[in-house]
Amino acid sequence: MKTLIVANWKCNPTNQKRSKKLFEAVKKGVGKVKNTELVICPPFVYLSMFSGLTLGAQNVFYKEKGAFTGEISPLMLKDLKVKYVILGHSEVRRYLNETDEIINKKVKMSLEVGLSVILCIGETLEERDRGETENILKKQLNIALEGIPVSKLKNRLSIAYEPIWAISSGDPYKTKELPTAEKVEQIYFYIKSLLAKKYNRNNTKNIRIIYGGSANSKNAETYLCESRMQGLLVGGASLNAEEFVKIVKTVE
Ligand code: PGA
Repeated sequence: MKTLIVANWKCNPTNQKRSKKLFEAVKKGVGKVKNTELVICPPFVYLSMFSGLTLGAQNVFYKEKGAFTGEISPLMLKDLKVKYVILGHSEVRRYLNETDEIINKKVKMSLEVGLSVILCIGETLEERDRGETENILKKQLNIALEGIPVSKLKNRLSIAYEPIWAISSGDPYKTKELPTAEKVEQIYFYIKSLLAKKYNRNNTKNIRIIYGGSANSKNAETYLCESRMQGLLVGGASLNAEEFVKIVKTVE
C-alpha cells in the first residue's frame, strides 16, 4: 500500500490567485510520485479550479441533496472528481459542535457514494493527562463506524490519529509539544487492535492508519518509519509548497 500524504489547507489561502499558486507549486515540485498517494484538500470553493493531483474535501454533509442550507452534498464532490473526504476533524468537532453520531452519518453516506474517508480521531490535552486517550479513541472510532459492515469499506477508509494538543495553529515548527515516536507507535497498534476487533484482522489490512499534528519535513520520517504510520495528515506545513514537497520526497 502506498503512503498516504494529505494536505489539509484548512481555511487558507484566502483568494483564488494564491490558492492556484500553491497548488501549481506543489504539482510541479512533487513531479511524478511512485510510493505516495498524494491528496490535496483545499476549501470547497477552490475544488473546481484544480486538476492533475488527487483532490479531497475537508468535510461533507450526510444527505445527497435537499433543503439543507449551507451544506455540500457528497454527490457534488463526486461530480467534481473529488476522491477523498476528511471527516471528524477536531476543529469541526470543536467549532461546529460536530458529534460522533453526526460523523457516523457522514462516514456512512460518503462510503455509500464512493468517496474515500479519512476519519480523524484524537484526544485533548486534558484527556491525555487524565489517562483517557485509549478510551476516547475507542469511543470515537466505534461510534463513527457503527453500523458500517466490512463489505462497505471497500479499501476506502483511513484513520488519522491527531492528538489535538499537537495540532499547530499554522506553524508546525512552533508547537510546544509533540508525541514521541514510541507513543505514536503504541497508538498505531492500539487503533489496529480496535479495527481488528471490529472487522477481523484479515479485513483491516487495507485500512491505513496515519498521523497528524504538526507534521513537517523534519519529523515525517520519524512518524512514518519509527512509529509505522502509513501516512500523514499535514496542516500548516502543506501551505508552504517547498516544505510540503520535502515531505513527499521523504516518502519517495
Ligand atoms: P497541523 O494540522 O499539521 O497544522 O498541526 C494538522 C491537522 O489539523 O490536520
